[in-house]
Amino acid sequence: MTIQQIYKLAINLGIKADFRSKQEIDKKLKKEKEKFEKLDTWEKKVFDRERITNPYSDTRILMGDPKKKIKKILAGIDIDTREIILAKMLGDIDLVISHHPQGIAYAGLDDVMHLQADILSQYGVPIHFAENLLRARVLEVSRSLHPVNHERPIDAAKLLDVAFMCTHTPTDNLVASFIRKKLKSARIEYVGELIKLLREVPEYTQAIKNGAGPRLFAGSEENRLGKIAVTGFTGGAEGSPKLYAKLSTAGISTVVEMHASEKHRKAAEKAQLNVVIAGHMSSDSIGMNLFLDELLRKGVKVVSTSGLIRIDRSKKRKS
Ligand SMILES: [Fe+2]
Ligand SMILES: [Fe+2]
Repeated sequence: MTIQQIYKLAINLGIKADFRSKQEIDKKLKKEKEKFEKLDTWEKKVFDRERITNPYSDTRILMGDPKKKIKKILAGIDIDTREIILAKMLGDIDLVISHHPQGIAYAGLDDVMHLQADILSQYGVPIHFAENLLRARVLEVSRSLHPVNHERPIDAAKLLDVAFMCTHTPTDNLVASFIRKKLKSARIEYVGELIKLLREVPEYTQAIKNGAGPRLFAGSEENRLGKIAVTGFTGGAEGSPKLYAKLSTAGISTVVEMHASEKHRKAAEKAQLNVVIAGHMSSDSIGMNLFLDELLRKGVKVVSTSGLIRIDRSKKRKS
């Protein structure tokens, strides 16, 4: 496979697993194209044209010739200069893939957050609440990303001639849909049973051994699950804490997320919600593994690093 084919595969898998419909995503891409066409010549020159064909602003080829043939990759949750040097030292790595974004993909992380509004509205939060609360939070995240040294690892990759890309929201979509499917088919009634179910997923079992397994952040294991919402697995960064109250009013009793800050946990508690935290590195690993298995099926060798709990499901029949 070439870098371009790996990049396209990530986007296509992300779209397939997206909680939004293909039509909704196409509409978003069409809007970007219209925006681009209205720009003047100078603005067109600096516009990130990938936005017209790739709905995920946090997923990009960061360094390397897209036509380069790839036989072996090094994949991790966070890739910075250290892992780039590691790839060079290993000697036979053709491409490094990070889950968390770097470079332009990191600077553009805020844009994918809008997808959270669509997810929340699917769980019954009126779209005007979801959009307005998220808009403020997206701006906050955008401002916080602005001063970051986004290009640092890419500069290292250029100096060492190491091809580098990141796949963030597409693989977060894969884990979100994996968890949603798992919960849909499970016969569980209590919060404790949900935690037990998560613990059986190999990445989470390993995370328990590593000291970061699934756990309860709010509510009680003895509580009934009620209506479950799988939020906080995809959509860039943490949304607004004010949305928990809206989810509760919309009839949700239990929220399952990858991770949550203390501020968010307190807001969820105040809204009387049960909150189950699956785990950050382990959940990110599931999403990456589902993508890496596709690469493996296509003959690309995979080496994992940087917190990625690698579980190979490539020989299992796809459900
Ligand atoms: Fe993630
Ligand atoms: Fe993450």
